[in-house]
Amino acid sequence: MGKEKAKADPTLRHIGIIMDGNGRWATARGLRRTRGHREGVEAAKRIVLAAIEEDVPYLSLYAFSTENWRRARDEVSFLMALVARNLRGQYDFYRENHVRVRHSGNLAGLPLEVQEEIAAVTEETQNNEAITINLAVNYGGRDEVVRSVNRALQDRPENATVPEISDEDIRSNLDLPDFPDPDLIIRTGGERRLSNFLIWESAYAELYFSERLWPEWTGDDLREALADFQRRKRNFGGMR
Ligand code: IPE
Ligand code: IPE
Ligand code: MG
Repeated sequence: MGKEKAKADPTLRHIGIIMDGNGRWATARGLRRTRGHREGVEAAKRIVLAAIEEDVPYLSLYAFSTENWRRARDEVSFLMALVARNLRGQYDFYRENHVRVRHSGNLAGLPLEVQEEIAAVTEETQNNEAITINLAVNYGGRDEVVRSVNRALQDRPENATVPEISDEDIRSNLDLPDFPDPDLIIRTGGERRLSNFLIWESAYAELYFSERLWPEWTGDDLREALADFQRRKRNFGGMR
């Protein structure tokens, strides 16, 4: 098993990040949007390292949503190639920093090359224990819940007459059932919405919105978010 408790706050086990603002970062500098996505990868590496320093056990990174296929064809193909290249090209980074890589999202809807890279990196990094990261690629929260319910239905015995699905059935058929629910969801880039990220899992997550664009994020930004999280009072519906 890897680490189970964050240094800053032992109740914090899983952070999800909506890495937004790559395009705006690039266009503000007169660069192509794709350049912003490349910078976004560098930011992701900085944040993984900072999360390891802070002993965060689980980190989910929203890299491509089920809605992002609506973008220009060039940008979509660039992003798919970038994902494939960075799964393959970052083995040294994963090994040196003991990063275990997992994937969530609709695998079958991804280009074959990306599917293969995901399978390979998951296998290659499975025994790494400094942190477990979830790369959410072709991920949508609604799509995940629908796939989960369908998996739960398939598991039912032939003679089950009442097709009642429980909370636990849905939970245990999510893409990463071994991940704890996120305690903190961070969105960079100024928008204040979830955009279909971890909608089932984030029922009681604390939300943190930052104006700063993703390519500008550093370890200090993550530490600021963690400090803010520590000041929150979580009730989970109970009494204060
Ligand atoms: C987030 O940055 C990365 C992806 C969605 C792939 P954007 O590409 O959404 O950047 P903005 O929001 O247009 O600035
Ligand atoms: C959310 O960002 C998806 C990812 C960061 C991968 P978007 O830029 O796609 O979200 P919207 O369209 O502004 O809601
Ligand atoms: Mg965006």
